[in-house]
Amino acid sequence: MVIYDYDIPEYDIWHMMMDSSEQGKGYGKEALNRVLEYISTKPFGNSDRAALTCGKNNTVAMKLYERMGFSATGAEDEDEIEMALTLSQHK
Ligand SMILES: CC(C)(COP(=O)(O)OP(=O)(O)OC[C@H]1O[C@@H](n2cnc3c(N)ncnc32)[C@H](O)[C@@H]1OP(=O)(O)O)[C@@H](O)C(=O)NCCC(=O)NCCS
Repeated sequence: MVIYDYDIPEYDIWHMMMDSSEQGKGYGKEALNRVLEYISTKPFGNSDRAALTCGKNNTVAMKLYERMGFSATGAEDEDEIEMALTLSQHK
């Protein structure tokens, strides 16, 4: 799910998930690439920032996000960290 937070402003990616029987087949990477391509068209607003939250212990997801160019912002909420990317730097 992609939402646009007009207050910051930024694009937020929510609920990134693949069915457990289909994980590890490259769909997550492909889906995230397509989501970032979509966001890069700036469908809701002109922000260049994309952000998401990731469980602190979710190493599979965290590595995937890091390979796509996301990095931890330092912001945390309970067991989740915030990660963000500048769209023009999307790998
Ligand atoms: C995170 C998630 C969306 C990734 O989707 P996916 O379709 O499994 O990911 P891909 O198949 O594209 O793999 C992406 C990378 O993760 C690695 N990976 C995937 N599943 C893995 C596993 N169980 N163990 C170790 N590495 C794994 C792949 O090897 C790949 O790495 P590579 O680029 O070096 O080859 C999926 O695992 C998922 O839905 N997890 C449960 C929900 C969740 O945690 N969502 C994230 C919320 S922040």
